[in-house]
Amino acid sequence: MNETDLLDLPFHHEPVLLADVVELLAPRPGARFVDCTLGGGGHAAALLAAGVELDGFDRDAYAIRAASTRLQPYLDAGALRVHHAPFADAARVLRESAPGVLYDGILADLGISSHHVDQAARGFSFQSDGPVSMVMDGRDAPLSERLDNVDEPTLTRLLREYGDEPNARRVAQTILFGRPWSGTRALAEAIAGVAAKTRGTHKATRSFQALRIWVNDELGQLDVALAELPELLAPGGRLAFISFHSLEDRRVKQAFAALAGVGAPTDLYGHPLVKPRFRLVDRRKGEDRDPNPRARSARLRVIERC
Ligand SMILES: C[S@@+](CC[C@H](N)C(=O)[O-])C[C@H]1O[C@@H](n2cnc3c(N)ncnc32)[C@H](O)[C@@H]1O
Repeated sequence: MNETDLLDLPFHHEPVLLADVVELLAPRPGARFVDCTLGGGGHAAALLAAGVELDGFDRDAYAIRAASTRLQPYLDAGALRVHHAPFADAARVLRESAPGVLYDGILADLGISSHHVDQAARGFSFQSDGPVSMVMDGRDAPLSERLDNVDEPTLTRLLREYGDEPNARRVAQTILFGRPWSGTRALAEAIAGVAAKTRGTHKATRSFQALRIWVNDELGQLDVALAELPELLAPGGRLAFISFHSLEDRRVKQAFAALAGVGAPTDLYGHPLVKPRFRLVDRRKGEDRDPNPRARSARLRVIERC
């Protein structure tokens, strides 16, 4: 299936922690905002309804189309600009398109949308059969191609680091030996045959997560965003990240702590020697605040530029 056919697939995604995002980012008329991960446009719709001007990014052409359709009136009114690009490019794109502009609110709601898992043709699902793809951006090399260019020790390390798979070596051997895979279901069944037991989830869950993170360079993207996005904030502007697993949340937590000067040298009275340019605003857990099952593992963290 090519990218044009994919654009006709239905798109559904319920935004997580919507009320918390709106409360903590406090959108107001005329404020300048960035949504790094438009998805189905749920968070963006709420921010735009509050009167902000928004630059929206997504690396997935399908999400760009779904969000643009939903938010068409804001596009027509010039309140929304949409960029089909990964968020690691967001700072550059914004500096080029709007030099010198600083932003009052920036949101990144990480990972994949429900659409990616629901639509087998996207190649993320192990419940239903689809191509061995897992790419969010159709311009990137699919999983099938990546598997042809990886060695066993590297794949083992990826499955261990990104998926916490205790039987990583056996899983890696099975994946490489069985190539080419006819589809995601055959791949998932083969993985489940050698992966360690899981509680209540499909035995391929950990490996599929690892493969997805690898194919989309999700942690590399996150590291660039954490380094560059804070510098785009105006004084008093806030940056919010929603993450869905500990690999992401740990990075966000550490980057925010460093920006806020946590652990930085202090004088005899405990005052920081260098005044931090950011402050930690809040952190919230999805399971405490949102009945949406997708929110169960969600972690929201927010910082503010001083
Ligand atoms: C959890 S969904 C966002 C849902 C959105 N907040 C909403 O309300 O519908 C994550 C979205 O981020 C996109 N995405 C993931 N990583 C990205 C990246 N590095 N750059 C740009 N978009 C990315 C995915 O394609 C997906 O559409």
